[in-house]
Amino acid sequence: MLTFGSIGCGNMGGAILEGVAKLGTSGTWRVIGFDPNQAAVKGLRERCGLTPCADEIETARLADVVLIAVKPEHVRAVLEKIAPHLTGKLLISLAAGVALERIKTYSADACPAVVIMPNTPAMVGEGCCALCLDDPALNEGQKKLVLELFSAMSTAVVLRESQIPEFSALIGSGPAFIFHLLESFVEAGLRLGFSYADAKQLVEKLILGSVRLAQGNPGIPHAKLRMNVCSPGGSSIMGVNELDRLGVRGAIIDAVLATHRRALEMSS
Ligand SMILES: NC(=O)c1ccc[n+]([C@@H]2O[C@H](COP(=O)([O-])OP(=O)(O)OC[C@H]3O[C@@H](n4cnc5c(N)ncnc54)[C@H](OP(=O)(O)O)[C@@H]3O)[C@@H](O)[C@H]2O)c1
Repeated sequence: MLTFGSIGCGNMGGAILEGVAKLGTSGTWRVIGFDPNQAAVKGLRERCGLTPCADEIETARLADVVLIAVKPEHVRAVLEKIAPHLTGKLLISLAAGVALERIKTYSADACPAVVIMPNTPAMVGEGCCALCLDDPALNEGQKKLVLELFSAMSTAVVLRESQIPEFSALIGSGPAFIFHLLESFVEAGLRLGFSYADAKQLVEKLILGSVRLAQGNPGIPHAKLRMNVCSPGGSSIMGVNELDRLGVRGAIIDAVLATHRRALEMSS
């Protein structure tokens, strides 16, 4: 049995530990972790059988795969502390904006390293994850292991590190745009007299159901699915025309491009 250890058991570390633990039903993975936040550790212990570690060093010593899931400003101190214990391990970092080169430097190049970029739907097993397998120290078996692990718990794509800002702008930040959109639809519901609870429930189902419809018809472009709702002379086409008059499509594209510019600044 292999051991997956996470240093940092917050939103993203916790989500990945839970994902790995679920794969462990076949007896493949044991999950361990350290976080100074005892409530986070206790929750994971109850939800996915996490074995708590005393500190960062114990996690690194006991794990075969070591996930760094702390805030970017803590990455350097954590890696410098555990570096002497990383020989023979596989290191994975999900800290946004901390480049592979810095991970390798802080960890004294003690073992192969992978940089990943998940998004928050990972917390319910519905995430997307970019995997950067650029480290020449990675062998084929390690690349296969990372790909299998993250493909089993998310929609995973392998990207060069130089493409991470593009992924980050569209998919990493994407939940912020989608929730902004959800808020807008709920407010429209309130304007139409729905209770907040009803509007929230109906709007969430609207988005989920529309995505499921698209996924159930992979050969049909989104534009065709939209036209199916827009009867000639009807009410839906009036609303769609208003979205176009207000430039909503262009605004969404501009929002993603602005996010991309900032992601590039932060990664340089
Ligand atoms: N949220 C996203 O959309 C997203 C997407 C992609 C990547 N990321 C990356 O994921 C990382 C974690 O983000 P998050 O949202 O999961 O943050 P989070 O919920 O705050 O989790 C980080 C956890 O690490 C703990 N911690 C701090 N120092 C530690 C140490 N030395 N050893 C072990 N644990 C330590 C923190 O405890 P305290 O609170 O007590 O300090 C906290 O519980 C960040 O680097 C972020 O860039 C996030």
